Amino acid sequence: MTELRVNGERLWATIMETAKMGATARGGICRLTLTDADRQVRDWFVRECQAAGSNVTVDEMGSIFARRPGRDNSRPPITIGSHLDTQPTGGKFDGVYGVLSGLEILRTLDDADYTTNAPLEVVSWTNEEGSRFTPPMLASGVFAGAFERDFAYALEDCDGRKFGEELRHIGYRGRVKCGDHKLGAYFELHIEQGPVLEAENQAIGVVTGVQSQSWYEITVTGRESHAGSTPMPLRQDAMVVCARIVEATHEVALNHAPLAVSTVGLVEVRPNSRNVIPGSVFFTVDLRHPEDAVLRRMEEEFRAAVDWAAGDMGLKVTVVNNWSSPSVKFDEACLGAVRTAAGDLGYRHRDIVSGAGHDAVCISWVAPAAMIFIPCEHGISHSEEEKTEPEHITAGANVLLVAVMAHDNTLRDRA
Ligand code: GLV
Ligand code: MN
Ligand code: MN
Repeated sequence: MTELRVNGERLWATIMETAKMGATARGGICRLTLTDADRQVRDWFVRECQAAGSNVTVDEMGSIFARRPGRDNSRPPITIGSHLDTQPTGGKFDGVYGVLSGLEILRTLDDADYTTNAPLEVVSWTNEEGSRFTPPMLASGVFAGAFERDFAYALEDCDGRKFGEELRHIGYRGRVKCGDHKLGAYFELHIEQGPVLEAENQAIGVVTGVQSQSWYEITVTGRESHAGSTPMPLRQDAMVVCARIVEATHEVALNHAPLAVSTVGLVEVRPNSRNVIPGSVFFTVDLRHPEDAVLRRMEEEFRAAVDWAAGDMGLKVTVVNNWSSPSVKFDEACLGAVRTAAGDLGYRHRDIVSGAGHDAVCISWVAPAAMIFIPCEHGISHSEEEKTEPEHITAGANVLLVAVMAHDNTLRDRA
């Protein structure tokens, strides 16, 4: 095992520094993708990577790659990455931790004047969260060939602003072709965003895969009319149909307990006035399960619930399946490096399947990939209350460092 270790205090201080960019009054971060706060953290990240001796490039999706040369630069890089964007009421660690641990490893190698065999690369992928622009994991998806670049450029936020123009506006529509290079291996470090590691007092999760998920957009069209003078039998109330579907969607997950989950997270009511019967409602549904076959059954039940909900009221309901991601299993050799690193460093660890989506999902389609989790308090994430401890932060980054170095050393052995 390498003798090198990260500087945990420096890493924690760096995370807290970036937490100021887009900070909310309640201790979280609002750094939606391609906003001014996103530009601010990107500019900072580019400067810090350059100061740590790496060469920075930006691809046409705005993903930032910081590359530190190795002994043999004809080899594909070993890449560490995650994302710097957050949810509207995000926490300080989701995504940021994975990117800044990569930066901390660049700094650690620079301090030690250590040269790896393969080049080492740290990447911040654009728009992992999928909150401002849907679908999520957008830039890693384009990198992996799952989406076309121009499909991404044409996506609109809720104010009708286009992804491609916003990318240019913040100065990060780079020239490098997205997906231009192969990755030798990809490692992503993240908070668990669930309660398992904390409950079992485990320091490290060896993430063997990610569950499948499917997203829908539903529009219910009724008729606007006066809340006081329209008799109940004459109403075409889009909100009532929406409410039925919300309840039924919740039931779909309960029918497949304990692993299934379902969420209606975004609802737009028109005209959204307290004394007007809603004429239309737009809302989103997020369904997830570790097994693809079970997720398909959940989707069938959800669609049946939509037909039932609209049935007796005669309102028009449109359902669009706007994104799906099948379950993923990570690479055994990369997972082996993570497991061995956790064991050699003396950390309690267990295998775990991720409930959340990550850029590693897309990258696993084009490169050997693995993920590492650390615990977070009460499993809470996508929330300003998101918390974890400095000791967990350091442990995860050291497991990442040791796993990456072990992977790099297998290249030396093969040379
Ligand atoms: C990504 O953050 C997700 O929704 O899992
Ligand atoms: Mn994340
Ligand atoms: Mn997230």
